Amino acid sequence: MMRLGVLASGSGSNLQAILDACAQKAIPAEVAVVVCNVAGAKALQRAESAGVPAVLLAHGQFPTRDAYDAELVALLRRHQVDLVCLAGFMRLITPVLLSAFQNKVLNIHPSLLPAYPGLHAARKALQAGARVSGCTVHIVDEGTDTGPIVVQAAVPVLDGDTEETLAARILAQEHRCYPRAIALFAQGRVELDGRRVRLRAPQGDPARTLSSPELFD
Ligand code: GAR
Repeated sequence: MMRLGVLASGSGSNLQAILDACAQKAIPAEVAVVVCNVAGAKALQRAESAGVPAVLLAHGQFPTRDAYDAELVALLRRHQVDLVCLAGFMRLITPVLLSAFQNKVLNIHPSLLPAYPGLHAARKALQAGARVSGCTVHIVDEGTDTGPIVVQAAVPVLDGDTEETLAARILAQEHRCYPRAIALFAQGRVELDGRRVRLRAPQGDPARTLSSPELFD
C-alpha cells in the first residue's frame, strides 16, 4: 500500500477525490497525512472527516522557504510517506523537498501543460481564445509546472464560458486524473525516459512493454 502525503491550501476537492478513491479501494494507496499551510482551509476539515491526520503548517512561522520545506520533509518522513501529492498547494516548493522525494512529488495543474503554467490558468486559456484546455498531473521538478507529464485530460472551452465555468469543468476532470496518476505510481508503472513518462504494462502482463501516457477522452 503506497502511503501518500497530500499538501493542500484551499478547498481540497482534489484531496477529497484522492481520499474517496483510497476509501473505495480503487487505488492501492492510503493517505498517511494531509498538510495545509492555511488556517481554516476546508482541506483540513476534509482530512479530519476522513479520519486522516491533518497538520496545519503555517508558512508565516518559518524564516525561509528552505526552513519550511525542511520541516515538511521531517513531517512527511514521520508519517512514512512514499509519494507527495500537491493538490492545490499554492506555494512554491524548494529543492529541499524535491531532493528528499526524488521524482516522487506530483502536482495537478488546471491546463494542458506546457500551456498556461502559473496562476489563473483558466483565465489565460480564455484570454488566448483556446478552444480546448484541460488538466495535467505531472512530476514536480525545479521549474514552475514544468515537470514530466503523467496524465492529462482535455476539456472543451465553450462559447459563453467564464473563468469560473471553465475552471469548474476542468476541476471535474482533475478529480478523475489525480487518482489515476497515483494508481500508476502505486502499481509501479511509471518510468522516466529523459523528460518523458513511459508507462509499463500492468503487473502480470508478461510483455511489460513501455507505452505513452494516457490522454483521457
Ligand atoms: C485546482 O484547480 C488545482 O488544479 C489548482 O488549484 C485548484 C485547487 O482546487 N492548482 C493550481 O492552480 C496550482 N498552480 P482544490 O483545492 O479544490 O483541489
